[in-house]
Amino acid sequence: MCPPEHFTVEYAINPWMDTTVAVDAGRALTQWESLRSTLVNLGHEVHVLDPRPGLPDMVYSANGAFSVDGAVYGARFRYPQRADEAVAHRSFYETGGSWKFFAPQHVNEGEGDFAYLPAAYGGIVLAGYGFRTDPAAHAEAQEVLGRPVISLRLVDPAFYHLDTALAALDDRHVTYYPGAFSEASQRVLAQLFPDAVLADRADAEAFGLNLVSDGRHVILNTDAIGMGRKVRDAGYQPVHVDLSELKRGGGSVKCAVAELRTGGDAGQPGAQR
Ligand code: ARG
Repeated sequence: MCPPEHFTVEYAINPWMDTTVAVDAGRALTQWESLRSTLVNLGHEVHVLDPRPGLPDMVYSANGAFSVDGAVYGARFRYPQRADEAVAHRSFYETGGSWKFFAPQHVNEGEGDFAYLPAAYGGIVLAGYGFRTDPAAHAEAQEVLGRPVISLRLVDPAFYHLDTALAALDDRHVTYYPGAFSEASQRVLAQLFPDAVLADRADAEAFGLNLVSDGRHVILNTDAIGMGRKVRDAGYQPVHVDLSELKRGGGSVKCAVAELRTGGDAGQPGAQR
């Protein structure tokens, strides 16, 4: 995670960003801290990346890389305003840890557009394209990670990253909003995940799919009341955190958390986080 110390909305690269409305940086920081302490209190280890001035979107740390079993596929941002964030993430991964970093050739925004299901079909990657990540990065990720990558086309600009439209609830189950995907990609998802928890447009607009799950607890923002109910009905425990300021940049819980899958723990529910 990376604290929103330099968080502003000074450019607009997704439909949620409005440069005419000021953000409350103090409030953003307090809310971010409550997300961090929620994760820590649930028993998760959180590494904190140093925020850098001039990179107002750095709080959305999920976009910095995508890791599977100790292999870290680096990000390459679509927009120049965020390009230098990749450098900060790369130096985190290259200076310590038991993982191996791979620099990307193709544009991809890390966990914004990649999700991993370690216990579905032996371990598969779901990958979004259409707004940010280049489909060529899906093939590159498959080569780097050695896992099948399923390409899914996003069609609604409001849900410009896969993690605004789909989330892993545990090692094999997903929840998603079908309307964010092309009809063909909806068929792919229905075939792979017939038992998925389906979200509706209101859930997606409340950033209810932008969640982090450890397989038991599902952390989602306070606006996502309907989604909280759906995950509870599906047997998970919703934990709501107020992240209203981060919504101004077009993100919520999941965007603020890059999950580090260090390897050796595939298949154990919750252990990969
Ligand atoms: N303002 C950021 C952007 O448009 C928000 C990124 C949200 N992150 C995410 N994982 N969906 O790039």
